[in-house]
Amino acid sequence: QDREPQKSLFTDLFGIFQQQLGRLAMSGGQIDSVMQEDRQFPPSAEFQAQASIGSLAAYEKLYDESIQNPEKFWGDFAEKELHWFKPYDKVLDWQPPFAQWFVGGQTNISYNCLDKHLTTWRKNKAAIIWEGEPGEQRTITYSQLHREVCKFASALKGLGLNKGDVATIYMPMVPELAIAMLACARIGVVHSVVFGGFSAEAIADRNNDAKAKVVITADGGWRRGKLLPLKETVDVALDKSPTVEHCVVLKRAGNNPPMKSWRDRWWHDLVETASADCPAEPLDSEHPLFILYTSGSTGKPKGIRHTTAGYNLYVKKTFEWVFDHRDEDVYWCTADCGWVTGHSYIVYGPLAAGATTVMYEGAPNWPQEDRFWDIIERHRVTILYTAPTAIRAFIKWGDHHVDKHDLSSLRLLGSVGEGINPEAWMWYYNKIGGGRCPIVDTWWQTETGGIMMSPLPGAIATKPGSCTKPMPGIVPAILDENLHEVGKNQGGMLCISQPWPGMLRGLWGDDDRYVQQYWTKVPGKYLTGDNSRQDSDGYYWIMGRIDDVINVSGHRLSTIEVESALVSHPNVAEAAAVGRPDELKGQSVVVFVTLKSGEANDALKQAMKQHVRKEIGALAVPDDIRFTNSLPKTRSGKIMRRLLRDIAAGKESVQDTSTLEDYTVLAKIRGDEE
Ligand code: WTA
Repeated sequence: QDREPQKSLFTDLFGIFQQQLGRLAMSGGQIDSVMQEDRQFPPSAEFQAQASIGSLAAYEKLYDESIQNPEKFWGDFAEKELHWFKPYDKVLDWQPPFAQWFVGGQTNISYNCLDKHLTTWRKNKAAIIWEGEPGEQRTITYSQLHREVCKFASALKGLGLNKGDVATIYMPMVPELAIAMLACARIGVVHSVVFGGFSAEAIADRNNDAKAKVVITADGGWRRGKLLPLKETVDVALDKSPTVEHCVVLKRAGNNPPMKSWRDRWWHDLVETASADCPAEPLDSEHPLFILYTSGSTGKPKGIRHTTAGYNLYVKKTFEWVFDHRDEDVYWCTADCGWVTGHSYIVYGPLAAGATTVMYEGAPNWPQEDRFWDIIERHRVTILYTAPTAIRAFIKWGDHHVDKHDLSSLRLLGSVGEGINPEAWMWYYNKIGGGRCPIVDTWWQTETGGIMMSPLPGAIATKPGSCTKPMPGIVPAILDENLHEVGKNQGGMLCISQPWPGMLRGLWGDDDRYVQQYWTKVPGKYLTGDNSRQDSDGYYWIMGRIDDVINVSGHRLSTIEVESALVSHPNVAEAAAVGRPDELKGQSVVVFVTLKSGEANDALKQAMKQHVRKEIGALAVPDDIRFTNSLPKTRSGKIMRRLLRDIAAGKESVQDTSTLEDYTVLAKIRGDEE
């Protein structure tokens, strides 16, 4: 039933084609070369000799233990490595799909990230090394960080915030962002960090869904030399956020936003009088730690709910395992705390492990395209964790930016956010790692809390484009549409068969949606939404999403979110958004629009882009808007996005069109395009 790609559209329309998962994955564009990839890069003997898990056998032993007796495995670590105000009675209570870890215990992640180190030599170790985009530098020791966190936690208490209240954090990448997160955690306030690139509308939606009581923000931040007026954006959001009583504003950029005396308070005024004595509140293991909104297959972002003890343990252990962390490391994750990577691997994982974590405020190409390499050289960074989209940009900007710098301090490289194509992998390995640094390609999700699959760098030989093997305690399964496990080298839906400590506990205020979204299609297993295959060595390869989620520069967007934003524009009747393979961003957004009024011209396209920017934020702005008279739909009225995806990518359609309502529509859209 397969067909040559050259076959005409006409033939396609009359064939009934079986949908092949493998093909779907190919729309990612990079899979062709991944399919042919068979190079292997074992860790050097030198790296292995120093690694804490230094052989395949050591990894396999750890993994086997974690599977044979998960409760003992995680229980032993929890007992030794977390502080317990009250010991737990039970490691795991699993009432599928609801898990509770370390039931009955009380701990506090802020305590585990800070106080725990103060009785050791790490007290005066650098916790955070920060660099602002304009060039300021700050080094904050564990002891200093503890003090700042205590003071800000006292200040929040002074505003009347209590355990269980929700705080929205909308800040630039400054140390106070981490301080705000840790201060909330210290007193049991649930934080909801909203990425600084989101619009006022997006902030208001999140405030309202979470019923936030306070918004913590800054006057402004810096990005590529430009000032981002964060407080002014928050002001617009707060007009539509009835639950928010207070707004705390850090002075960062000095742009003097208007302050409303009955609502807005300066951060520095609050902490000036706040007590530095603020003991960490003993919190139940399952006390909610944070909400993080992410896109799913519907228009409304989901508030992923993570809790205290299991998350704490999971990010600490995965940080130590994956990055083979040693006390002398200077570790830099280039993500933003607005995403889960920043939560787990800038703040909580590294600090729980007593690491030195670098935070950088700005863009990789400011003032020059060598900013990252400059930071690595000056701070003697040993571990770099970044995203494929950044790596592809560096390749494009040219090797001469790299050649200007001494990168010999690096010993390990990491990648996250989307699959890394073998070409980018090889460049990263040779040019940045000098051929001596293993690359950990880490696959995971907002929902999983921490890394799920990745090489352990001293133990597992890497293959460019593969996230290799599961973490201890993680049991992946790949299933076909009939829910049967597929064999080696066959693609299917990636699921996780057993609960793990870092897993999401639900969606904020919507457990039905949690059950429906993650646990219904494949009963008893967590549905990741990704496709995957396992090769003959048992290595996993991620092959893109099965749902309507697009990944733009490592940021998750739902097509329906973009469509909802567009149809709220007065001229738009209907819209369909799809992802198109993009050399730099991985995917870019292409939309097909039908109009109810107005003229299909460039001015209207610009207006629509502006509209999406206002509704969601810059990251959702379509690269390409195409006007059409109608959209292809199934008889039940669903937009056939897969067809549009092929059209957007300039490919002949290889999809099943048997349910298409109006065949002629397709030809029309293609005609429009050509
Ligand atoms: C994709 C980011 C391939 C995947 C931590 C996943 C990846 C989604 C990888 C989660 C990787 C992330 N290889 N794909 N190493 N890492 N993804 O929630 O589709 O922002 O489901 O979490 O990104 O994105 P999220």
